[in-house]
Amino acid sequence: MTERDDPKKDSYRPDTKLSVLGRDPFAHHGIVNPPVYHASTVLFPTVKALKDPGNRAPGKVFYGRYGTPTTFALEEAVAEIEGGYRSVIVGSGKAAVVCALLAFLKAGDHVLMVDSAYSPSRQFAEKTSARFGITATFYDPLIARNELARLIKPNTRVLFLESPGSLTFEVQDVPALAKVAKAAGLAVLMDNTWASPLFFDPFAHGVDVSIQAGTKYVVGHSDAMLGLVTGTEETYPAIRHAFEELGFSAGPDDIYLALRGLRTLGVRLRRHQEVATELALWLKARPEVDRVLYPALPDDPGHAIWKRDFKGASGLFGVVLKPVSSDAVAAMLDGLKLFGMGYSWGGYESLVVPTEPHLLRADPSRWDPKYPMLRFHAGLEDPADLIADLEEGFERMRKARS
Ligand SMILES: Cc1ncc(COP(=O)(O)O)c(C=O)c1O
Repeated sequence: MTERDDPKKDSYRPDTKLSVLGRDPFAHHGIVNPPVYHASTVLFPTVKALKDPGNRAPGKVFYGRYGTPTTFALEEAVAEIEGGYRSVIVGSGKAAVVCALLAFLKAGDHVLMVDSAYSPSRQFAEKTSARFGITATFYDPLIARNELARLIKPNTRVLFLESPGSLTFEVQDVPALAKVAKAAGLAVLMDNTWASPLFFDPFAHGVDVSIQAGTKYVVGHSDAMLGLVTGTEETYPAIRHAFEELGFSAGPDDIYLALRGLRTLGVRLRRHQEVATELALWLKARPEVDRVLYPALPDDPGHAIWKRDFKGASGLFGVVLKPVSSDAVAAMLDGLKLFGMGYSWGGYESLVVPTEPHLLRADPSRWDPKYPMLRFHAGLEDPADLIADLEEGFERMRKARS
């Protein structure tokens, strides 16, 4: 029996779903994982088959760009785990953001984007979209419902959410904001990369379109770029249309890596949370640290909403240091052995980068540049080794200050 015709498949719990979705061993000689199809040209045996519109529908192998059974396996698995109707796969998380936005926006339209969105998402909404006559307003991630309602204009078409926010980790009240947007007829788009499809159910919280930078936790090993856009039955046709018109696609080997990554997403994410929590608590107690931005901590301002809406926390969090020179911060970071310095996160390894949200935000007032900020990604290592590495880092910082 294949996963597709298993009558119990919908009742499986998420970890079981991660193990069974998108594979069909007995259609492939009993081999556990689906094969990787490399294709541009797809041949048809007759003119009738070549012209048959039925052969062009999603899920049919028609043309390399629209996907192969390798693509469909990941699309099906992600749509199911995320609780949506169908997904499209594109070459990066940024492409997924662009695909989702352009599915719902045209010249003359307006988008409301959260001020704490991933900065290349902001840049597309603010700069590139403006070239096509689309305008954007960036709203406070902690905006109240009535204030959001006031920002909706007659030409507003999209509410874009990302929770927790990039770099600053504010938790948005997704159901409340989605309700306001829906009442005004907007499409509700959410970048759900931080939580992955496993720790936040976007569609159960009023979201119409979920965006994943598959590059991060789905792939999980820092070795492939991928983006996923998942819609409901109502929103999928627009997403699919944008995907086809923009010419997006993703390479089969990267899709395979994402399918493989998906199998261990549950165990990896729980470990990321465990390591992140230990690091966050240790950092919070350090004299050099002003605040830790991690919604899983009970005294985080976003904790109550995170607890209500999320099923877990991933490994990405922020740290606000007490005032210290950038040279002292560099002295700390430059000598770290276990924390790599790089921007793309979600792999098995720990990372750290200095961040400057005050340079990105429409409202920079909450982020005082005198308090340097760091973004940590907790990998899967032993937290004791990571802490020892950071301890040495703080010692270098102390020496650089004196
Ligand atoms: C929240 C979020 N969305 C989207 C992206 C973009 O993903 P990609 O690097 O695959 O383009 C990133 C990358 O860091 C991200 O952090």
